[in-house]
Amino acid sequence: MYTITVISGDGIGQEVVGRALKVLDAVAKKYHHQFTFKHALAGGAALDAVGVPLPEETLDSCRASDAVLLGAVGGPKWDNNPPHLKPEQALLGLRKNLGLYANIRPAKIYSALLDASTLKREVVEGVDIVVVRELTGGIYFGTPRGVESKNGEAIATNTLTYSESEIKRIAESAFEIAMKRKKKVCSVDKANILETSQLWRITVTAVGQKYREVELSHMYVDNCAMQLIRNPKQFDVIVTENMFGDILSDEAAMLTGSIGMLASASLGGKVALYEPVHGSAPDIAGQNKANPIATIASVAMMLRFSFNLQKEAEDVESAIQKVLDNGYRTPDIATANTIRVGTKEMAEQICSIILRQ
Ligand code: IPM
Ligand code: MG
Repeated sequence: MYTITVISGDGIGQEVVGRALKVLDAVAKKYHHQFTFKHALAGGAALDAVGVPLPEETLDSCRASDAVLLGAVGGPKWDNNPPHLKPEQALLGLRKNLGLYANIRPAKIYSALLDASTLKREVVEGVDIVVVRELTGGIYFGTPRGVESKNGEAIATNTLTYSESEIKRIAESAFEIAMKRKKKVCSVDKANILETSQLWRITVTAVGQKYREVELSHMYVDNCAMQLIRNPKQFDVIVTENMFGDILSDEAAMLTGSIGMLASASLGGKVALYEPVHGSAPDIAGQNKANPIATIASVAMMLRFSFNLQKEAEDVESAIQKVLDNGYRTPDIATANTIRVGTKEMAEQICSIILRQ
């Protein structure tokens, strides 16, 4: 029996999470597990209901669960809120309070989707990258921060700080992941300019000494942004700081055809959080258009990492693959001669394959 705190959040969050829960129901039925869902509020939904983006109750529920599934937070309705009352604060609060310093974002292309990428087939065919993003440090959390007024104009400040221990633990996560893959780590920084990056490079190199089998390389972030488009197949595991990882993981996502495909896991604390990489997409919310695959693939990561249910995880992943092979596509990945379906139908196809295979 597993307890999952479910935070649907805003925009398409409701739809994609709702469908991912159906997939968990299918897994429960097939393998005789029991998943208990505890619904909790965060983001704009929480602001509307109780006036804060991350209620204490939600955090308590997460801490008392075996895993957390999150949809997305944010939307135009709350864009003009003061910084501490923005929906995105919920996400940062969850990451920080649950100690989720390691964000794992795999970008693997499904062969059925080769033509959905905006890049040439020969460039993206075989792409299989994991971005390991530091998630609880860096400029997202550094102080001092804020806006002040000086000499008649506004001045805004953010601070980028990293400690050796913060870098060491994320580097270890990356090397451990690489050991189970192609044993290649590319550490991305801006060590030609930033002190934090210089410390990053020294620390990652030192951790690398313990992983002799892993080939470690270093790359400046601007070059990495370019190399991801030029020749993405050179990468296996990319490890980088919070903001570089935010940007590069969106870029890596597009290699796979759509950001609607990408799952993520945030690990490091007692309870892990799983969420699609995409946002709340308010423009298509409530229209049965969103691609539920990223959230369903996040559930597969939950089965694997939090519950150690390897076979169940593979089952979900192979069902996703089969549905794509069978030609079903949500609008974001549709190409000529494919079968267009909505959020609900896509998830139903995946569930029925899980129950049949
Ligand atoms: C992400 C998102 C978040 C981030 C936002 C919504 C706070 O872009 O998870 O990548 O910047 O980390
Ligand atoms: Mg992002």
